[in-house]
Amino acid sequence: MIRIAAVGDVHAQTGNVQMLKAGFANIHTKADVLAIAGDLTAHGLAKEAGELAFALKDVKIPIIVVLGNHDYHMGQQGDIRRVLEKGGIIVLDGETTVVEAGGFRAGFIGTKGFGGGFGIRALPDFGEEIFRMMYREGVNEAERIHWGLETLEVMEPDFRIVLLHYSPIKDTLFGEPPEVYAFLGASIMAEPIDKLGADLVLHGHAHYGTEKGMTPGGVPVRNVAMPTMGRPYSIYPLGG
Ligand SMILES: [Fe+2]
Ligand SMILES: [Fe+2]
Repeated sequence: MIRIAAVGDVHAQTGNVQMLKAGFANIHTKADVLAIAGDLTAHGLAKEAGELAFALKDVKIPIIVVLGNHDYHMGQQGDIRRVLEKGGIIVLDGETTVVEAGGFRAGFIGTKGFGGGFGIRALPDFGEEIFRMMYREGVNEAERIHWGLETLEVMEPDFRIVLLHYSPIKDTLFGEPPEVYAFLGASIMAEPIDKLGADLVLHGHAHYGTEKGMTPGGVPVRNVAMPTMGRPYSIYPLGG
């Protein structure tokens, strides 16, 4: 068995760093890897990434993260990545990594994802250029997931995990106002997941959503936003 601990939307800042640190204490006794599904910082400041690195410095298991929209807010996403990597944290931005534990290999494809909406109500490739740019950004993110899952096929892990900030399905947004669903995720991202297959999808961003959902093809999706779960992290065992 390999135990995946996951949380999103930790929104690190001076005021919550001790709470975060306490929440991750002894996590290595319960999990083999920690995945954080974006919105690592409160205001997108590199110094907040430093606070998160401090909160995570005693975590003895591999830590894999993606950035969220908050981490882009001040244009410091490059510095945020560098600060976290200096702290030994694996930052995925359209990349893959494989973690070994408990006799299993878990492969991760991580990317931020994007909004755009769901199903027949999703943003179309139509009209003003700025809307078409938004549409294309969703396509780009879906292509990153596709590429990552293809790459993982070659690496042959026992399990494939897609780590996102935005949601690829609507079900895990339930609890949020329906007016904001299109800003919280995009169903176009579920297409490569169902086409190529995965064992688990993790996302955050929907603070008032629902933990459990499933892609149309039956892949389990978990919204691990900390305010949704109301605990420091959840553990998803694979292969047990
Ligand atoms: Fe958030
Ligand atoms: Fe977010």
